[in-house]
Amino acid sequence: MFKIVHAQFIAPGIKRFIIEAPRIARKQRPGQFVIIRICESGERIPLTIERSDPQNGTVNIVVQSMGKTTHLLNSLETGDSLLDIVGPLGKPSEIAHFGTVVAIGGGVGTAMAYPTAAAMKQAGNHVISIIGGRSKDLVILEREMREVSDSVFVTTDDGSYADKGLVTDKLRHLIDSGTRIDLVLAVGPIPMMRAVAEVTRKENIRTVVSLNPIMIDGTGMCGGCRVLVDGKSEFACVDGPEFEASRVDFDVLVQRNSMYRDAEKRSMENYRQELAAKKTAATSEPAVPCALEAK
Ligand SMILES: Cc1cc2nc3c(=O)[nH]c(=O)nc-3n(C[C@H](O)[C@H](O)[C@H](O)COP(=O)(O)OP(=O)(O)OC[C@H]3O[C@@H](n4cnc5c(N)ncnc54)[C@H](O)[C@@H]3O)c2cc1C
Ligand code: FES
Repeated sequence: MFKIVHAQFIAPGIKRFIIEAPRIARKQRPGQFVIIRICESGERIPLTIERSDPQNGTVNIVVQSMGKTTHLLNSLETGDSLLDIVGPLGKPSEIAHFGTVVAIGGGVGTAMAYPTAAAMKQAGNHVISIIGGRSKDLVILEREMREVSDSVFVTTDDGSYADKGLVTDKLRHLIDSGTRIDLVLAVGPIPMMRAVAEVTRKENIRTVVSLNPIMIDGTGMCGGCRVLVDGKSEFACVDGPEFEASRVDFDVLVQRNSMYRDAEKRSMENYRQELAAKKTAATSEPAVPCALEAK
């Protein structure tokens, strides 16, 4: 069991966990992820390590509620435990002195961009970060990004904070104003990464994206995370998760990620009903996620 030493919402539906996992904390490098399982009958889900503390033996993850498992996870509190954490998985980010690096984080993707941006800064790069959210409360880790960046631009889709617009508007502005950019790192929703790739392809700017295909075992054995890169199948869990954006077939990524949409919807709906029934039947007991699962 892996103890949650701290759990706190940092935005609506987005929670940061600090988890005791000393072996992973010692080995983790920026860009890597873990696969967690909350309880015996639970599914495995991949989550990027936002940061690790080898001395205290902890790793941080930042989780956005999407479907059943991430809702279950985000209902856990300080003092609860997770059944399994496997990792660190995936190839670490390529960290080198590139010159000027633009790190782009969309929504919870900012938590995934953060460790790589920090390592890029440490490697002597000039780091410009662009972080975006749909609205003010969904912009996360602004303070942390400021600590590791030479400058930070924030965008919100609705204009409720900082600049109204998309992260790509800011990127376009930087390019048009003559900023020399040697590398772009983009992490966020697939449409965002695809839009960044379109902007930078035309400008011949090397761009790396961190892909989020369906993952199951995380070991290259199941084939679940197949992505099409330069017309060839690669496995995001062992060949990625980072890939050169210009080589990625985003159409295939979108298509494969929607394969289980109906099953995911049903699973979430069943979970909501179980939760409501549990609350009605046993009002004196809090709803314990794994008790709900172990029927
Ligand atoms: C390498 C990697 C790193 C990730 N890091 C983070 C992170 O740091 N924080 C975070 O909040 N999310 C992260 N994700 C996404 C996260 O894994 C999914 O949100 C989660 O699996 C959703 O599970 P669910 O049961 O709650 O939702 P579901 O109802 O199963 O699905 C909701 C949506 O999540 C996506 N999804 C579902 N299962 C998977 C899966 N096994 N692999 C990938 N995507 C899936 C699909 O797009 C789906 O439409 C990462 C994904 C990958 C591949
Ligand atoms: S998750 Fe199974 S091969 Fe990558």
